[in-house]
Order: sequence, then structure tokens, then C-alpha cells
Amino acid sequence: MKIIVEPTNFIKGLIKISGSKNAALPLMACSMLTDDVIVLNNIPNISDVMLMKKILEDVGVKVEYLEEKKKMILQKIKIKDITNLDNIKKIRASLYVIGGLVANHKKFNTCYPGGCSFSNRPIDYHLEVFKVLGYKITENNDILELKSRRKNKKNLIFRMNQKSVGTTINILFTSVKRKNTTIIKNASLEPEVLEVIKMLKLMGANIIIEENAEIKIDGVKNLKGATFNVMSDRIEAGSYMLLASAVDKSDIVIENINSCYMREVINTIKKLGVNVIDNKSHIRIIKNFPIIGIKQIASTYPSFPTDLQQILCVTCTKAITMSMIVDEIYPKRLTHIEELKKVNGNVFVNNNVIYINPSVLSGKNIYAHDLRCGFACIVMGCIMKEKVQIENAEIILRGYENLVYKLNSIGIKCQIIE
Ligand code: EPZ
Repeated sequence: MKIIVEPTNFIKGLIKISGSKNAALPLMACSMLTDDVIVLNNIPNISDVMLMKKILEDVGVKVEYLEEKKKMILQKIKIKDITNLDNIKKIRASLYVIGGLVANHKKFNTCYPGGCSFSNRPIDYHLEVFKVLGYKITENNDILELKSRRKNKKNLIFRMNQKSVGTTINILFTSVKRKNTTIIKNASLEPEVLEVIKMLKLMGANIIIEENAEIKIDGVKNLKGATFNVMSDRIEAGSYMLLASAVDKSDIVIENINSCYMREVINTIKKLGVNVIDNKSHIRIIKNFPIIGIKQIASTYPSFPTDLQQILCVTCTKAITMSMIVDEIYPKRLTHIEELKKVNGNVFVNNNVIYINPSVLSGKNIYAHDLRCGFACIVMGCIMKEKVQIENAEIILRGYENLVYKLNSIGIKCQIIE
């Protein structure tokens, strides 16, 4: 699949932000922790969600998705082993289903999860947690065999050397119904993790967020069903805000968001010299003048998110001075740099610092290596001198609902060709 994007120097209109991919995926996996019905509203119709639906159905969860209403109804029937390993390989979020199987004390085989391969993304933290919980894990030709030898019923403390969204969520999944107390030190408190905690508490879990990023979980016997509204996608919102900051002139309104999760992103857009009118549930971006270069670190929340680092780099090619960007979470998240160089981008990397100089992008073909690199390619297309063809475009549809419709609605001419 390819997407053709025509350059434009003015965009105007309204973008309605969809439900958050990175909240929806673990929330769907919460269905593995109760026999009752889970109802999720504001679930985006994106391929990662549809794939997660298939993976959950594979392990014995009944999933119904009402697309028009963006509503998903899930109910665990009988948890069983993974049969379709190919799907597990396609997304990182299959780790949550693996966590759900461990929470159900299943003995099963799996393979390594997939997902965006912009950098080495080990799962050692997850495997360590499963071993502490009593699992014996053996690996044969990329197949991981997880056997539950004995349930660890002691009070446990997990001290995270590095904040990890997925590992924090998997510790939550495997401890909410485990006898005794579990404490997570240096837990990830990204908004999407807080949403999972809210959901688990709604289901009856006993979870307290203490000071210093510490989470305390006292196991309960059972969890009940719940209805939950998925938060809006702060990364999708930030993506369109950075796109508007790159185009010469913009006047767009980003709707259906909660700007309290966007503080650092808004600060970054303002540092570029772009006018931001923050109305909490919608943000207006007005850009009339060239932007200036910035220094930016991408790190854990509430810092500027790593998922927007690649898109920010492309926006900064339009600045009249040099920018320096460091991604503390994924220092090697650089697939977009290869594409920028292909289209005359004056960028280079030295000691994990990405230097972006003023550039006039021109070229014909670029490649979407991963989801956020893909949106960065869209921004390249908008500010290029001539029409560009983005290959591997299906990877962008994994995380951006109604992409072409939303781009067209603000005046960006683009179309998908198979
Ligand atoms: C989640 O990935 C998101 N994915 C990522 O978004 C996001 O970039 C990342 O969190 C940010 O922290 C989903 O929610 C589906 P981590 P996750 O565990 O949970 C290292 C997107 O574009 N680490 O928080 O996999 C890891 O290498 C995606 O939507 C280990 O070393 O990320 C990284 O340096 C991309 N071993 C750091 O921890 C492990 O076992 C944080 O990773 C796990 C993680």
C-alpha cells in the first residue's frame, strides 16, 4: 500500500481525535481478568485494535466491535493457550495477552511480540516478572515455553531500573488477583497506565498510587465487569499539532482531547513560535510565521513523549535555526533520519543527539519504517517541494484512525493506492 501526499502551504479545519491506541490495547486485555462483561467506549477502528481482537479471541475471549458506536464488548469464555503465533509477532501489545495468560496461571508457548521495530525492544523485564511469580521459561528457536511451577504467594516488591509502560501494566495484571501485596517501585505513570489502573479499580481491584511513582496492589479474590470510556489519543493529537507547526500557514482546531495530558507538547509547540490556544477539550493551532529551532528531550511522562520525537524532527526542518533533539527512551529511534536524508534533509546524529538544520525537502519516494516514522513521512510530504509517494503506508493505519479523511478535512491532498 502507498499513500500519495501533495505539498501544501496552508491548512485549515477541524480534527476530531480518536480513542487512544495505547490505552485501548491494555484495556481490552483487562477482559482476561474477569468472567463478567467488559464494555469499552471510544475504541478506535485501527488495525492494531482489530489484531488485538483476534489475539484475544484466539485465547478464549469473545469480542464484539460495534464500529459505528466505537463500542467494544468483551467477555472471557474459557482462557486457552495461544494457537496463532503469527498474530503475536505483529504487535507489541500481545505482551498484555501474555500477561493475561500468566494472570490465569496458564502453561503455554508463545513467541516474541512484534510491533514497531525502530529499535531493540527487549522483553526481559516482563520475563523477569513472570519468573518471580513462579514461572519457568525456556526458549527453543524463538518459541518461549512458560510453565507455572508454583504460585508465589509472598508479598513482592518489583524495583524497576527503568520506567516501563508494558511491564508496569503486566505487573498490575498479574497481581490484582494474587494473594498478598505487590509493590512496584519506579512504576511508569504514563496517562495510559493510569487509565488501566482506573479500569482495574472499577473492576474491584485494590490499587493505591503512592508517592515517588510507587504503586501498591493488594490482591482480591475476583474482579467484576465494568464499562469504561477510553481516553483520547494524545499522540494522535500531538501528531496533527506538529504537522500544523510544519506547514507554512495553519489554522486548525484539535477536538476531543484533554489538554492536561499535553502540557509538554503544548510547551514545545509554543517554543517553536507557534500560537496555541488551549481550551482544555480542544486546542487551536495558528501558524503564520516561520518557526525557530529548539532543544528538546523526549522522555517519560510528563516530559515530551518519545512517540512524537520522529515527527518533531521533521517539523524542525522548517525552522530557521538549528534544533537538537535527544530521545532518552529510545536513543536509536532514528528510522525517519534515513528518510529525511533521502529527501535532502540537512540532519545528522552524533552521540545520540539529533541535529536538524533548516532544510528544503525534495524527493519522490519515502518509506514508512514504523508507525510514527510513517506519520513523520506524511509531514515530509506536506512540506516537500513536489508530490511524494510513501511506501508501506499500511503501517500508518495501525495507529491513526481515518487518516486520509482527517488529512483531507484540513486541506491536505492525499490518497491511498494499493
Ligand atoms: C509503550 O511501549 C508504547 N506502546 C510505545 O508506543 C511507547 O513508545 C512506549 O510505551 C514508551 O515508553 C504501547 O503502549 C503499545 P516500555 P512499551 O516498556 O511498553 C525498555 C507507539 O508508537 N524495556 O515503556 O513496549 C525499552 O527498550 C509505541 O505507539 C526493556 O529494556 O515500552 C525502552 O527503552 C512505540 N525491557 C524502555 O524500557 C523490557 O522488557 C521503555 O519501554 C521492556 C522495556
